[in-house]
Amino acid sequence: MKILIINGPNLNLLGTREADIYGTKTLDDISASLRSLAGELDVEVDIRQSNHEGEIVDMIQNARGYAAIVINPAAYTHTSVAIRDAIAAVNIPAIEVHLSNIYRREEFRHKSLIAPVAHGQISGFGPDSYGLGLRAAVSVATHAEKGTS
Ligand code: DQA
Repeated sequence: MKILIINGPNLNLLGTREADIYGTKTLDDISASLRSLAGELDVEVDIRQSNHEGEIVDMIQNARGYAAIVINPAAYTHTSVAIRDAIAAVNIPAIEVHLSNIYRREEFRHKSLIAPVAHGQISGFGPDSYGLGLRAAVSVATHAEKGTS
């Protein structure tokens, strides 16, 4: 089983970016933990990052063959109809993840355009949000394969 993990804008700066909010782990650190967890769960992961909305839309459109998508759309969470529509267009379950709890932050972060088309959302567990997201993705995809819910 293959899971696609997509990181949106500015997540390449994790480690130095607003460390009080996002912590000191880099995206490479998080990716290494995810690869190790993927080994334990016996699944494959492809981990990508882009600062560009259209590239993220392309990644989602080209996700055929992946059992699920784990996506941190970052700032595009709150603005991108295009990413929302791409997730709605492909028949692949998507788990939305955020390092921070977006509902405890500024008002403009409380609205996710992605949540209504995501299978579910994990927000506020720091880097662990990704691991929880990967576990959720594997669970959802396994049930989909077996035709259970
Ligand atoms: C974020 C939350 C977003 O509001 C923000 O724009 C990000 C990161 C998170 O992981 O907590 O870039 O998605």
